[in-house]
Amino acid sequence: MDLTALNNEFGGEGIRFVSGPGNLAVAEMTNEHGHAEIALHGAHVMSFAPVGAAPVLWMSRQSWFAPGKPIRGGIPVCWPWFGAHPNDPALPGHGFARISEWQVVAAGTTRTGGSFLELRLTEEDVPEAYRGGQPFELLLRVEAAATLRVALRIKNTGMDKLEFSAALHSYFSVGEIGNIKIAGFEGKCYLDTLDNSRGVQQGTLTFDAETDLIFTDCGSVCHIEDPDLERRISVARSGSRCAVVWNPWIEKSRRMPDFGDDEYHSMVCVEAANALDDARSLAPGGVHLLETVIGIA
Ligand code: BG6
Repeated sequence: MDLTALNNEFGGEGIRFVSGPGNLAVAEMTNEHGHAEIALHGAHVMSFAPVGAAPVLWMSRQSWFAPGKPIRGGIPVCWPWFGAHPNDPALPGHGFARISEWQVVAAGTTRTGGSFLELRLTEEDVPEAYRGGQPFELLLRVEAAATLRVALRIKNTGMDKLEFSAALHSYFSVGEIGNIKIAGFEGKCYLDTLDNSRGVQQGTLTFDAETDLIFTDCGSVCHIEDPDLERRISVARSGSRCAVVWNPWIEKSRRMPDFGDDEYHSMVCVEAANALDDARSLAPGGVHLLETVIGIA
């Protein structure tokens, strides 16, 4: 990735392209409201913080930062399938978008003084092993100000229907997982993917074991209440009827090579998803917008 060319064409006030961890090209967005970093690898938001605030997103100290490998933390873009591939377990979990190199198409300043970046992915940008499906165009727009807005626009550029599941797989930084509460899922139905049972959430969500829930038809906003960091993170979703909440807890943390054994204490994932019944099918020319807006409430 030619950083000089990227800076000449797209850099400017509030945005510059630098060499990040593992030499990945990273867009740094800094303005009077906040700061964010986005790797072109995976169109991956790696960090975000409003001015004066502690990091909102979590990143593993054991993450890979390498071509072909997903980054552990921030906001992976899961597409065109969420989780394991429906028919072929050999294909990469959560799809190929997060391990592909995206192209910068626009960057600049928003009307309210924030910074934005737009990245594009089409079949030509995808590793060869994963080509040959239905043609598509993904456009990821990131706006960083006091809040972070991440919008994934999926377009069917082919002649047949385009079917997919997806998620903006946000990892949040928390003081201690055992002390947080997530409000917003009370009374909502979920699939517990650990044992494939269905249930209804009673009260706010708390954590004392591995948690991997897909809320199947839930409201558009939830809040992570964090007494240790003395803050409340709001997570809003649109174009998404379902949300995934995940923490690997002790055993699964040990099994993941790119995740520190003790790191489950300091993170939780709350994901804007199109999964299960909310997987989508686009007619030729059709467009879907999946969006999340994150802030400190
Ligand atoms: C979550 C899934 O979205 O992602 C979990 O619900 C999964 O089951 C987690 O373990 C992490 O996935 P990966 O592929 O990044 O290890």
